[in-house]
Amino acid sequence: MKTWAVVNQKGGVGKTTTAITIAGHLGKTEKRLLLVDLDPHGSLTSYLGYDPDEISTGIYSLFSNPTENERDIAKMLLPTPIKNTYLFAASSALATLDRQMGTGVGKGLIVSRAIQSVADRFSYGIIDCPPMLGILMINALAACDQLLIPAQTDYLSLKGLDRMVHTLAMVEKSLHKKTPYMIVPTMYDKRTKASIDALQEMKNRYRFNVWGSVIPIDTKFRDASKAGVPLSELAPGSRGSVAYYNLLNFLIGINERNDDAKQDTQQFA
Ligand SMILES: Nc1ncnc2c1ncn2[C@@H]1O[C@H](COP(=O)(O)OP(=O)(O)OP(=O)(O)O)[C@@H](O)[C@H]1O
Ligand SMILES: [Mg+2]
Repeated sequence: MKTWAVVNQKGGVGKTTTAITIAGHLGKTEKRLLLVDLDPHGSLTSYLGYDPDEISTGIYSLFSNPTENERDIAKMLLPTPIKNTYLFAASSALATLDRQMGTGVGKGLIVSRAIQSVADRFSYGIIDCPPMLGILMINALAACDQLLIPAQTDYLSLKGLDRMVHTLAMVEKSLHKKTPYMIVPTMYDKRTKASIDALQEMKNRYRFNVWGSVIPIDTKFRDASKAGVPLSELAPGSRGSVAYYNLLNFLIGINERNDDAKQDTQQFA
């Protein structure tokens, strides 16, 4: 199982949209996908038709009783309208977690261990994160193989991006783990100078960590979230849907290249 976490401390940059739209495209393959909603607002959980106020077995139960629950989370997963896709849901109670967990020491690997318990049943995992640094984001960073950082292509977002990359370096140090990250420029409007300039600046600052393409601004994303289906279902040929299809293929390509490289090193070891 390959796990991607979608993170950015800045709100409204397209994290949940990224998770759900990639999920929609993966659902059209035979691959099994686990979606993990670590956001106390439960946007992904709501999107998939569940009420975060009514979730009784989800991420929160994992934290309230890790020894009991992290050994096998299979019974806590919910089916979704997307083919071959299951949800580890968020409940509103998650909002109290940071206060309850104090410094969070020793709690950073709970999600990672939980996901490992079902790793042989899924090809991919996607973790949607809240827009803040806390115990949940730290768990996501510890549990993933690859980070996706959606960043809106406007000037203000660049500041947020600097903060995110700095936070990442700090957390990685404490976790003793280095995870590759890729910035995904979102809501790109090729007609505006602000978008064009922000994208150029992103590339100047982060070079090879910026995905070579963009997610364009597309009003159909809002229609899809209103309808509670991924854009790949509502309008498969729309610009936004096609852009996420390309992103998914790029990500699968990275994983395959990494696997080949691993095999090569094993062969010659
Ligand atoms: N490429 C896009 N073009 C137009 N609208 C978009 C695009 N991506 C996302 N949106 C819309 O922007 C809003 C915020 O997106 P989303 O919920 O995915 O952001 P988020 O980063 O998950 O936010 P939060 O930090 O609050 O969880 C949503 O209404 C979504 O439909
Ligand atoms: Mg979100």
